[in-house]
Amino acid sequence: MSSSSVSIQALHTFGLPVFAERVISAETQEQLCDAWQQAAQEQRPAILLGEGSNMLFLEDFSGWIILNRIKGINVRESEDFWHLHVGAGENWHELVCYSLEQNFSGLENLALIPGCVGSSPIQNIGAYGVELKDVCEYVDVLNLSCGDTSRIAAEDCQFGYRESIFKHQFREGYAIVAVGLILPKVWKPVLSYGDLRQLDAQTVTPKAVFDSVCEMRSSKLPDPKVTGNAGSFFKNPIVSAETAARILASDPNAPHYPQPDGQEKLAAGWLIDTCRLKGHRIGGAAVHQQQALVLINLDNATPQDVTALAGYVRNQVAARFNVWLEPEVRFIGRTGERNAVEVLS
Ligand code: FAD
Ligand code: EPU
Repeated sequence: MSSSSVSIQALHTFGLPVFAERVISAETQEQLCDAWQQAAQEQRPAILLGEGSNMLFLEDFSGWIILNRIKGINVRESEDFWHLHVGAGENWHELVCYSLEQNFSGLENLALIPGCVGSSPIQNIGAYGVELKDVCEYVDVLNLSCGDTSRIAAEDCQFGYRESIFKHQFREGYAIVAVGLILPKVWKPVLSYGDLRQLDAQTVTPKAVFDSVCEMRSSKLPDPKVTGNAGSFFKNPIVSAETAARILASDPNAPHYPQPDGQEKLAAGWLIDTCRLKGHRIGGAAVHQQQALVLINLDNATPQDVTALAGYVRNQVAARFNVWLEPEVRFIGRTGERNAVEVLS
């Protein structure tokens, strides 16, 4: 067995001091397949990595990390839409900026989300009233064992809240190599969330929405270049109407968002905040002061600090509200992904 020798601290946004055996950067589909198949031949575990902004490495990874760096943006026009075919290794926020420069609107609510375009369908990234599913036309997926590519239409991607087919049927042994986006030429601003409600729907521009989103995000979310983090650590829990009613009876101000099936989505940040956990610290990890849903690497945190803090937060919220939070962040152990709830239980 080969030893873990390459630092991957700079390859994930939590910035934890962890190592992998090998890191390979793939700029083409062939390179992705070659790296994957070589790892299999040498019986080494392998994982794909975009920009590591939704990952928690629990320990050193005793295998190969394959960075998806396939680039390129192609634009096609139809009567009513712009169609963008984007290489999976493009940076998401740079794509949002590029689209605005070209006067293609529709991505502005999704500004400043870290990570690669190829990762965006996996958890159906979402912010400020828009999700990837609202702008996605298709996803191109490569079978890493045989090299075949298939195009999956958006309606077949099983998109849901932080959910898609890429967390299930296409989770292991497949790489997303391109994403097709479809942006209507007639812009319909989405102004339903937070400070965006203050904008005037008659006069607002895509750039004004972009600026407002960037301002809201910068005021709450820590910049991973300064303070390590992986965005929202937990998902917002979707609970029964009865559970929501019980919480609202004692806390009438609890934010809650009705779901189409009669359930309610609660704000995990509010639940954690209400347990007075902002700023709570274990070792070098802490709950962010401006947004309780974000756990940060405050001061040379170790993976154990982060999991101890996450477990503590989860137990405190359950003790007070009888709601168990589930991590949004993907947990990676020595040989591959681990079930995050099991790790914290
Ligand atoms: P990574 O973390 O590198 O990978 C995520 C998962 O995808 C891993 O399991 C990896 O193995 C797999 N993977 C990566 N690339 C591929 C590929 N090409 N093919 C197949 N599998 C692959 N998310 C939101 O939805 N909304 C937000 O508002 C938001 N805000 C954030 C703010 C901050 C400050 C941070 C740090 C994160 C935030 N996130 C948000 C989470 C994160 O930005 C998204 O999940 C993003 O899509 C992750 O992209 P990535 O390239 O970094 O993926
Ligand atoms: N809240 C508090 N205290 C806190 C944090 C939040 O009371 O410490 C309250 C807010 O006042 C608000 C509600 O909780 O009433 C929701 O907060 P916010 O608008 O900040 O959004 P969120 O639900 O915490 C979600 C996404 C974010 C996304 C924002 C904006 C999840 C898990 N998180 O956060 O996505 O940017 O909405 O749309 O769905 C991510 O996934 O990594 C992420 C950052």
